[in-house]
Amino acid sequence: MCAPDAYDLRYEINAWMSLKNRPDLSLATQQWAQLYRVMTESVGIQVELIPQAAETPDMVFTANAGLVVGRRILLSNFRHPERQLEAPYFRAWFEQRGYEVLVPPETCKFEGEGDALFAGDTLLAGYLKRSDICSHQWLSETLQRRVISLELVDPRWYHLDTALFPLSDEWVVYYPGAFDSYARRVLEANFQLIEVAPEEALKFACNSVVIGDQIVMPAGCPKLQTELQSRGFRVYSVPLSEFIKSGGAAKCLTLYLE
Ligand code: ARG
Repeated sequence: MCAPDAYDLRYEINAWMSLKNRPDLSLATQQWAQLYRVMTESVGIQVELIPQAAETPDMVFTANAGLVVGRRILLSNFRHPERQLEAPYFRAWFEQRGYEVLVPPETCKFEGEGDALFAGDTLLAGYLKRSDICSHQWLSETLQRRVISLELVDPRWYHLDTALFPLSDEWVVYYPGAFDSYARRVLEANFQLIEVAPEEALKFACNSVVIGDQIVMPAGCPKLQTELQSRGFRVYSVPLSEFIKSGGAAKCLTLYLE
């Protein structure tokens, strides 16, 4: 995770961001601190931190650093120049800790875990809005894993992790309206699906973090919370309104390390 020491909204690169609706930075700091406490104290996982660089207001969204598999990081190749500035900081962090750093082909945009989530051994990968589909072939060849490509069609659900999260190798939570009809058929053919209601998808319900049988989700998604609790998950909800203004919530603010 990356504490929001230089967080702000200084440009518009997705449908959520508006310079006329900037985050309350002191509230953002409180919300992030609560997320951090839930992760470390309630869920009880170890969280590593990376300092936020001054000129990178979106660096708090560490999911976009890359995709970590064991001691390898498959680094992002950001679509927008505003976020390309983050790449060297993330790269240095992983190099200093002895990770093997792999980079996508220059012509293929790839935005890390924002667009790539494991369901068991299978990688679900989003494309069209941020990542290019050519990055999926690179992921598949590099990792020697099956990759299922899913087209995102609505600008509000521009990263895969805003539209879907796997619960296991069998079960996936998703918002159908984010995907084209072929992606929906592929999901139906491969997984048991739990649908998120549109009003909760708009509250970033799909931007949840799954750690075993515990789930951390943004506040304001009672239907999904109840559904997951009835399936035996322990669910924590955290208010993250000030990050949603930039187009991200719980999952975007974290990157899985193994
Ligand atoms: N403002 C950031 C962007 O548009 C938000 C990134 C959200 N991250 C995510 N994994 N969905 O790039």
